[in-house]
Amino acid sequence: MNSFEQSDNNQSSPNHRRRPRYSGTHPKNFRQKYKEHNIAAHPDLKAHLRAKGKTPAGTHIPVLIEEVLGCLKPKPGQIVADCTVGYGGHALEFIKRIGPTGKLIAFDIDGTELERTRHRLEKEKASMSFYHSNFAGIANAMSKEKLDGYDIIFADLGVSSMQIDNPDRGISYKNEGPLDMRMDERLKRTGADLLNNLSEEELAKAFWELSDEPDCREIARLIISQRAVQPITTVLQLVRLVFAVKGLTLNSWKKKQRNSRFGSLHPAARTFQALRILVNDEIGSLKELLRIAPYCLRPGGRIGIISFHSGEDRLVKQSFRDGVESGIYQSASQNAIVPRIREIASNPRSSSAKFRWAIKGV
Ligand SMILES: C[S@@+](CC[C@H](N)C(=O)[O-])C[C@H]1O[C@@H](n2cnc3c(N)ncnc32)[C@H](O)[C@@H]1O
Repeated sequence: MNSFEQSDNNQSSPNHRRRPRYSGTHPKNFRQKYKEHNIAAHPDLKAHLRAKGKTPAGTHIPVLIEEVLGCLKPKPGQIVADCTVGYGGHALEFIKRIGPTGKLIAFDIDGTELERTRHRLEKEKASMSFYHSNFAGIANAMSKEKLDGYDIIFADLGVSSMQIDNPDRGISYKNEGPLDMRMDERLKRTGADLLNNLSEEELAKAFWELSDEPDCREIARLIISQRAVQPITTVLQLVRLVFAVKGLTLNSWKKKQRNSRFGSLHPAARTFQALRILVNDEIGSLKELLRIAPYCLRPGGRIGIISFHSGEDRLVKQSFRDGVESGIYQSASQNAIVPRIREIASNPRSSSAKFRWAIKGV
């Protein structure tokens, strides 16, 4: 538990801490939003933020929930592997449907958030196990749990809102912080380590292949020349560098944004996404999950995957198609299922989500 949570939860304890200090009437940054970090105790604030399409700090809004449940059809007594439990939004809905005779096996590489989610979900009367593990480990967990397979395997790829919003993680280009980017603190190399050690060729390849960044070569070249002068270790250093390549300043970008009707993609979004995917080897983990999933599903079992960028969606689509062709899967979704306009309006972070499912043969 972090300090801001303690300050709100322990109001009556003799050694409770004061709420964080901030100037003005409203907390502005992630750490100051102490009420949002204990949102269950502040339902009015939650309703207010949600009505404005905002995600309270330290929480996550699950995406495509009706579509996921409609396609994966969890039933009483089933065994569900939630490969990316995150804040537990999807997991909670699975638990409600599989009931006390079912079991949820939850995985996440983020040990800090996993502990918080375990704490929240353990209030439910349900059978659950939590693994601080990459989802590539679902087969190992199966043998530890003495299971012959899962009825449902579900993954909601990428990062949670808690991870994006926390400036200490350096995942978002929006807030200054260290360029860490690791979802799993046990990983050895941070985003800064990669930026300061990979070759120009390796960086350009990553920016192109993992996020289709059109200026990948120029960005990689400038990183190499800048790091010779000073290591690149913070979010703002990298943002400024990308802006320089694109001939923008922070002010000219803000002006452009103000004049654009729908807002446009942040100039550094692709670079940050590629670096995060590389740090966490997200493509390698997904390939391994897709390879082992059919062997971990019970006959007639269902797999569903939500992805947030085209490279991942292509892998999922191809794997499910190959599975149908080879007869491992009896059927798979024809097209990706995407959020409705209503969902995007209430949770803009859902806008790039794509959901696909497949059913194992009996
Ligand atoms: C989009 S969030 C999931 C949100 C969740 N469905 C919910 O409703 O709260 C993705 C989560 O997957 C985790 N994650 C990403 N890659 C992973 C991997 N290879 N193995 C296990 N967890 C992973 C992240 O740490 C993050 O918590």
